[in-house]
Amino acid sequence: MLSKFQARAFFLGGTVVFAGIFLILTFDTHRKIPAQTNSEMITPQVAAGKKLWEQNNCMGCHTLFGEGAYYAPELTKVVDRRGKDWIKIFIKDPAAMFPGQRKMVKYDFTDQQIDELIAFLEWCGRVDLNGFPADPPLKKLMQPAAGATAGAGASGELPATVAAAVPLPVMFEQKSCTGCHRILGKGMPGVMLPNAVTGEVVAAPALDLVFQRKTREELIAWISDPQKVKPGSPMPNLVPALVSPQEVEQMVDFLLDLKAHVTPAN
Ligand code: HEC
Ligand code: HEC
Repeated sequence: MLSKFQARAFFLGGTVVFAGIFLILTFDTHRKIPAQTNSEMITPQVAAGKKLWEQNNCMGCHTLFGEGAYYAPELTKVVDRRGKDWIKIFIKDPAAMFPGQRKMVKYDFTDQQIDELIAFLEWCGRVDLNGFPADPPLKKLMQPAAGATAGAGASGELPATVAAAVPLPVMFEQKSCTGCHRILGKGMPGVMLPNAVTGEVVAAPALDLVFQRKTREELIAWISDPQKVKPGSPMPNLVPALVSPQEVEQMVDFLLDLKAHVTPAN
């Protein structure tokens, strides 16, 4: 048994030691925060984005750094995952990308506000969180396998000289295609995404040589309603909400005309 004196000394001594450790750890954490958060990268644009994030209650559905609600995807690394173009188009009209599924609010932000939000999310993605969020188990599957770009050609792309000479209609960027596909050297390289029905992970192929794989009719049918051709495909229905049937025709004509740029050596 401890005497009363010993018990008091034990209590006071323990309190002092652990309060000391607590203070040292607190000091140590605060010392590291500026480096971990890249505080020098917090521009006025990033700060404005954070305000928008708070004012619009994004956290009511999303988590950021793991904090928030679990209805909608974790957004800490969303800029790495999706790319800025994709996010920009998505925020303008979220339901258009995934029609008939759960919905994100359409906020009617200005372009400037969307850029601010993306700058904020990009900054979040650069914060050193000691490995959070953990790599999803799918990530290994999502490394594009060699030749994952379905079909012709090692990369399925036309040579860089063609990409430099033929201007890509802005439509392909404005309508989100380059958010997943590579076309004439622009856009994401072979994004790998799971099929919602089968779980099979597929690449969004480069579209330069798609004329070798699909006819005009097939292309129109696919772009107009991928979910009908291949249920669960990661390519969302973009017609008619984001892309008009007439624009589909223009896109398909352009993709088919790329045939003219194939040299026999290709
Ligand atoms: C009412 C709930 C709700 C609110 C509020 C909300 N979102 Fe979303 N958000 C969603 C849902 C649901 C999805 C998933 C859409 C899908 O997959 O169909 C989503 C998806 C996203 C994505 C794409 C994520 C990905 O990995 O595909 C981004 C970026 C995003 N939201 C940003 C925001 C921002 C910024 C705000 C605040 C201005 C916000 N969201 C507010 C429900 C919400
Ligand atoms: C969210 C990502 C995403 C977006 C946005 C997207 N696609 Fe796709 N696309 C895919 C994926 C993934 C595939 C492969 C589909 C599969 O096998 O289920 C695909 C397939 C295709 C194919 C067939 C390719 C082939 O080799 O047979 C065409 C053509 C196509 N997309 C055109 C477009 C066009 C045009 C747009 C813009 C209007 C677009 N895509 C937007 C992800 C996307």
